[in-house]
Amino acid sequence: MLDIFMEYYPLFLSGLGVTVFVTLISCSLGTVLGTFLALGKIYGNKFVSAVVRIIISIIRGTPLLVQLFIIYYGLPSWGINLDPITAAIISFIINSGVYQAEYLRGSIQSISGSQLKAAQSIGMTKWQGIRHIILPQAFRRVIPSWTNEFIYMIKYSSLAYVIGARELMTEGKLIASRNYQFFDVYLVVALIYLIVIIFFVAIFNRIEKKVAIP
Ligand code: ARG
Repeated sequence: MLDIFMEYYPLFLSGLGVTVFVTLISCSLGTVLGTFLALGKIYGNKFVSAVVRIIISIIRGTPLLVQLFIIYYGLPSWGINLDPITAAIISFIINSGVYQAEYLRGSIQSISGSQLKAAQSIGMTKWQGIRHIILPQAFRRVIPSWTNEFIYMIKYSSLAYVIGARELMTEGKLIASRNYQFFDVYLVVALIYLIVIIFFVAIFNRIEKKVAIP
């Protein structure tokens, strides 16, 4: 196994780089999207919250792989051609954003609504209260779910191999089809995913402890 890694490490590492890049971008832009969706669902008017509800149920109710195919193979028929990595990132942002919206919604709703009223009673507008009082607490509380989501997305990013994005799984497949050592090659791939996940979880746990609400 080690010999396989040593022989092909530039390929493994470049795949790993793409995997981490795609996941980091998807998760962070997913947080931005998820924040808007969660706020729209909780504080938006009837129309906005109904639209958000529909978006969430569509994305949650369809497989990520199908969403990926629609973006990569479907959009070209509307004249939108994306390279595999961009297509993967876009579909992951949408998918992760929807899940993150639900985590954030739970976290916002766990913070008492009376805090918002208190903020308004000292002269803040509703949005100021949401921005300065509710959201900072909600973000801290959502870190454990966010960590979990990040783990999911690192693993889900391997789906991008089906559209040929050269992430870790794709590189593994290319190496294995070159040397036929499927067992060892995929074991190396699995081990790399595992190590990366353990590494990021350790970082996020640290951040969580640092910003924990006492
Ligand atoms: N079991 C998780 C949940 O429902 C799945 C999250 C998967 N994340 C994703 N972006 N598809 O909370």
